[in-house]
Amino acid sequence: MSSTPWWAAEDFWRKCAIFVTAFMALVLILLTFHSLAAIQSGAGRVPAYSVINHRIDYRMDSERGYQIPVIGAEAPLFGRKLTDAEAEQLVDLGKLTVQAKNCMNCHTLLGNGAYFAPDLTKSWLDPGWGNEQAREVLMTLFLKDPVANARTFGTGRSMPNMRLTDDEVRGVIAFLKWMSAVDTNGFPRGFEPLPQGGA
Ligand code: HEC
Repeated sequence: MSSTPWWAAEDFWRKCAIFVTAFMALVLILLTFHSLAAIQSGAGRVPAYSVINHRIDYRMDSERGYQIPVIGAEAPLFGRKLTDAEAEQLVDLGKLTVQAKNCMNCHTLLGNGAYFAPDLTKSWLDPGWGNEQAREVLMTLFLKDPVANARTFGTGRSMPNMRLTDDEVRGVIAFLKWMSAVDTNGFPRGFEPLPQGGA
């Protein structure tokens, strides 16, 4: 019989290590599935893609202590209501364009990316677009040719022409509109939206 107490035995610690590793692996798998479900469009804080057919307001929630997106009445993007499938396709095109053109080289999206240019999470609601009526046109012009149609977003820097096609521009705008409706727990802090009708 060895005189080593049970808690100091090598075998005890080996079993502990195996148990903890296996248990945490299980937790990781469960969390992965939980996160995947939480970030699905249409689940909880991430709106369905068809949200681009609606008004998106950004209002103070006194209980939570920050502003949250509020999905309002119908307000189709570019004046045409899209089916769920069309909306998904357009937002998808925008997301792929943002990835293919590596906009994150300068911008952040949901806080990820580079800090040269403004965060794009709430760009759809940015006061830089003037007002709701002008927004779609000004965003289109800006994204088509940011040099000639420079606006001021307060950085004092300019954005190069990313050579987007008309379809890609529409996709990017749809993607930005959809993203602005994601409930981001108040991120980015202190964001002031453009004047909102009925506010
Ligand atoms: C080389 C850096 C750079 C790249 C790459 C870039 N941008 Fe920009 N972008 C800027 C800068 C700088 C501004 C801010 C201009 C200003 O302050 O007037 C800006 C502004 C914007 C705005 C307005 C910001 C707001 O607050 O509403 C949008 C929208 C935008 N960019 C979208 C894009 C998209 C989409 C891409 C990729 C296709 C892209 N940008 C790639 C530098 C960049």
